[in-house]
Amino acid sequence: MGRSPCAVDEHGALDRARSPRRTAGLGVSLVGLALSGLAQAAVEAEHMEFGVLADGTPVPAVELSNANGVTVRIIALGAAIQSLRVPDRNGTLADVVLGHRSVGEYLDKPQYFGATVGRYANRIAGGKFRLDGREYTLERNDGPNHLHGGTLGFDKVLWRIESVTRGTPGRVVLKHVSPDGHGGYPGTLEVTVSYTLDDLDRLTVEYRARTDKPTIVNITNHSYFNLAGEGSGRDIMGHRLTIFADAYTPVDETLIPQGPPRSVAGTPFDFRQPQAIGARIRDASEQQLLIGRGYDHNFVLNGTPGELRLAARLEDPDSGRVLELATTAPGLQFYSGNFLDGTSIGKAARSYRQGDGLCLEPQVFPDSPNRPDFPSARLDPGAEYVHVMQLRFSTAAASGEQVTAR
Ligand code: GLA
Repeated sequence: MGRSPCAVDEHGALDRARSPRRTAGLGVSLVGLALSGLAQAAVEAEHMEFGVLADGTPVPAVELSNANGVTVRIIALGAAIQSLRVPDRNGTLADVVLGHRSVGEYLDKPQYFGATVGRYANRIAGGKFRLDGREYTLERNDGPNHLHGGTLGFDKVLWRIESVTRGTPGRVVLKHVSPDGHGGYPGTLEVTVSYTLDDLDRLTVEYRARTDKPTIVNITNHSYFNLAGEGSGRDIMGHRLTIFADAYTPVDETLIPQGPPRSVAGTPFDFRQPQAIGARIRDASEQQLLIGRGYDHNFVLNGTPGELRLAARLEDPDSGRVLELATTAPGLQFYSGNFLDGTSIGKAARSYRQGDGLCLEPQVFPDSPNRPDFPSARLDPGAEYVHVMQLRFSTAAASGEQVTAR
């Protein structure tokens, strides 16, 4: 991988100048802090080349890293999180997301490791939906259904890197314009994805989209997390998960929601208190777990969609690493990595098998375009689609009781 000197644009200075906390008076005291060496350290930004496409086109990457060692590498292919290194309770760093070493593996495999997925993340029944009386037909790339925008979805796009910002926080912004009719979706869709890393170990991901015709949009990130480290040889069954949801959407045999949301109470889908993922995953009396070969379900998040609120908390008791996930989306797909079958090779040259990683994908509910009773995925010209999600990393004491936010 080739590295070039960090290209820093002027946005860092602009961003800091616009920070709502930076009043004139505070600005002076910040200068004082900087002089005394106590100011918050800037998040570094480094350009690199991750690899090349078959035709020789380079695939650029940007790495953001803060003073605590938290480092995220974003690749332009799929606007994806290719690696994400965070410290454990002793300060030891590990890469906590699954991913590949080479461009070719990302193109060959349909696992969506770390990728931006769209135009419509998750499934649309029969690959069909109606909008304003007209029926649209999408690719059926998951049995009878459409999944994750089709075989040439956002995860396969070489996104343009719009800007890279070094500072507090650090940021990379990527852009893609999806032509009208691409994959069967109506409307030219202009999409930006921004990744912002701050010095409190928070990675904020923001999706924005505009269209020139009425359409549907549902964009999320498809990272597979393993807080022990993707190369640790440990799976995620001992991770303790909390999901702030009183209900989930049960599915049919093809993983399309059927009927109204169902209460999680008294079922293996109740994660309102922390539960080890492996504790109930093989409960054969729960038909929904058999259908999904584990968890592969959308949870109806508590709270108000549109507001950034906590959706889930994941903890690895051994390393102490904790991930809290907040989102503005109405739902969260919890997928326990059921289709990892040993054919994908990870960054540590180990094959990934079932349960080696889990996805927490904030989103509009699956099949919303065919479900008037679900929150709408519609986007009209003049309106803006905005989805914000935030990954907050910290560590917990060995007892698992006490959380120390940095
Ligand atoms: C999503 C789906 C899963 C699977 C993965 C990709 O999370 O819900 O069923 O298709 O993507 O393998």
